[in-house]
Amino acid sequence: MKNIAVFASGRGSNFSAIVKAVKSGKLRARLSLLVCDNSKAAVLGKARKNKVRIALVKREDFSSKQEFEDGIIKNLRENKVDLIVLAGFMRILSREFVRAYSGRIINIHPALLPSFKGAHAIKDAFEYGVKVTGVTVHFVDEKTDHGPIILQDSVRIMPKDTLMALENKIHKIEHRLYPQAIGLFIKGRLKVKGRKVEILKS
Ligand code: GRF
Repeated sequence: MKNIAVFASGRGSNFSAIVKAVKSGKLRARLSLLVCDNSKAAVLGKARKNKVRIALVKREDFSSKQEFEDGIIKNLRENKVDLIVLAGFMRILSREFVRAYSGRIINIHPALLPSFKGAHAIKDAFEYGVKVTGVTVHFVDEKTDHGPIILQDSVRIMPKDTLMALENKIHKIEHRLYPQAIGLFIKGRLKVKGRKVEILKS
């Protein structure tokens, strides 16, 4: 069984969706570790409640970014992590880190990449006035919000939608799409060729 680590800095609704998928047996993986860089994050309570091991690794406890990342890598090695799942982790991983786990880091972004990169994607799409937006799960490469796309799903923005209504629609898609993408990785069904990710038949 593959070991996965979720990296999160905040609320953790995607973390909870992954826990649920593992517990129900939909996702045949071991959720071995939560890596969190924020001691006030709500995701920590969710991990404790579900008995998921926590590595609380705070940037301010290390004198450099490299030492901080070495601290994370130590935890990943100790837990034999096969896949890193970024779920609202508010730090950019260095090129060295991404290389060390090349092809084994995935991220979820709340917009249809390459549109609306960055930390405020839902609000940016809403304010831009697009009629369709969505969610992207992608491999992580050395550029932010850039790597090969695994899955995307779209949502229409209706005239009556508030920003909050749109956020709710986006999160609902995320909670379905992320476990699905993790499942494809775990079953070895993702084949990356340059920028393209082929989904192999089961
Ligand atoms: C999600 O919207 C995800 O797409 C983005 O950060 C948010 C994390 O939300 N990368 P949560 O902490 O999983 O609730």
